[in-house]
Amino acid sequence: MKILRAPQSVAAWSERLRKEGLTIGFVPTMGALHDGHRSLIRAARLRCDALVVSIFVNPTQFGPTEDLTKYPRPITHDRALCRAEGVDVCFEPTPDAMYPEGCQTIVTVPEIAHRWEGKTRPHHFAGVATVVTKLFGIVRPHVALFGQKDYQQAALIKRLVADLNLGVTIDVRPTIREKDGLAMSSRNRYLSPDDRRAATILYQSFQAGRQAIEAGAKSVSTVECIMAKMVAQESTAHIEYLALCDPASLEPLTQVKGRILLLGAIRIGSVRLIDNMLITR
Ligand code: PAF
Repeated sequence: MKILRAPQSVAAWSERLRKEGLTIGFVPTMGALHDGHRSLIRAARLRCDALVVSIFVNPTQFGPTEDLTKYPRPITHDRALCRAEGVDVCFEPTPDAMYPEGCQTIVTVPEIAHRWEGKTRPHHFAGVATVVTKLFGIVRPHVALFGQKDYQQAALIKRLVADLNLGVTIDVRPTIREKDGLAMSSRNRYLSPDDRRAATILYQSFQAGRQAIEAGAKSVSTVECIMAKMVAQESTAHIEYLALCDPASLEPLTQVKGRILLLGAIRIGSVRLIDNMLITR
């Protein structure tokens, strides 16, 4: 596995492979890789000839109160995982290489970005959209894979790829969960043992919501109430949002019918957890 730090080296590698007619798969990450990333890497390995994983803790998607310096950076573990999964290139750019002096372009996807996660993290999605656009420009992948756990992020990336004609196929893969249902996330490591036990309440609230929908619940507010009551059973959990929305536009639903996305964020102590579930009625 090559470890490349300079964007120019990755671009040159990619250009060479493209000329040979090979397909390039790409899994962008911020490191601290877990089984969720592993499943994306495996899926990419199966569908592409060559595979790039980027590890870059992107400063522009962190808010002023979110601690960029404390973000986990277990690079030896991450490289070992990539190597074991047959990654060809591990791209590890520096912040200066990604954002050299004078760079000023910001990519925004306003309608998708302003809701849900965007309310508590106002600049987050501009940071994500900008870095993903830049990474796509450097790696020039045919296919890029993202996890469904970050549903809003995946929706935003699909939109920006279509809007900017980036020519990258976006492959969104199902969330990988712990045995008790908790969605895998780099943030789970911050949970104390008690908080870790309590954290499954978000997934349980989606299951309660799904059951209510399957049992014929008539109104959106009834289902949302059932989900909120479930989360309230854990006194340490605070709801940021729990909603039924349209899977394509992410707009709140007014009727319980068709394809429904249950979307939620809760805080347990200082850890924010997000998750979602797609259902059809
Ligand atoms: O999902 C992530 O890890 C990040 O938001 C991403 C897509 C790698 C951009 O920094």
